[in-house]
Amino acid sequence: MIKIVYDIKVYREVLKNIINKDDVVVELGCHMGNSTRIIAQKAPHGKIIALDKGSQSEKKMKELIEDETTSIEFIKGDVRLHETLEEVAKKVNQMGGCDVLSIDLGGGYHPDTTFKVFFIWSSTLKPRETIIRNRGLLDFLHSASSSEIITSNKGWLESCGDDGIPTRLKELKLWSSKL
Ligand SMILES: C[S@@+](CC[C@H](N)C(=O)[O-])C[C@H]1O[C@@H](n2cnc3c(N)ncnc32)[C@H](O)[C@@H]1O
Repeated sequence: MIKIVYDIKVYREVLKNIINKDDVVVELGCHMGNSTRIIAQKAPHGKIIALDKGSQSEKKMKELIEDETTSIEFIKGDVRLHETLEEVAKKVNQMGGCDVLSIDLGGGYHPDTTFKVFFIWSSTLKPRETIIRNRGLLDFLHSASSSEIITSNKGWLESCGDDGIPTRLKELKLWSSKL
């Protein structure tokens, strides 16, 4: 399933509802780790890879990793960059695949960038569930209408298949059947 939200409280509620105790979760835009802590508590036997490019994250994420028993890895990086996705895809492949992809680059962040990040990361990692926090995409979802139905039950767009996987990653042939 793909869920789109704006309110941070709704974002955290949805995370609580969709995460299972042994899930592998990739969190894009973890900031100070306030949602990462919730994810860690919902997935005590799982693994979390949390990413952020901001300078405020490093210290807080280090403290969180020391506090929590769930395996959490923090990567300081820009999620728009190829090498960031490549690094995470390799790690996730070794973990057996991604169960949940959560994307919060800032609720009011450019919807075009957020959608592109969603499309490329979800096409590559093929998560069971994706949650996106973005006002523009939520507005678009409720404002647009169509007589045609194309839909997906996964956390990625099934109709697009592997179209969103960057060529360089396709060439690495690093995915299992789940990735
Ligand atoms: C609203 S905060 C995230 C809040 C967090 N999800 C929570 O629940 O507490 C958005 C974060 O996205 C990060 N961010 C924005 N664009 C990014 C990018 N291209 N790569 C990595 N992080 C990014 C920002 O640095 C910021 O920390």
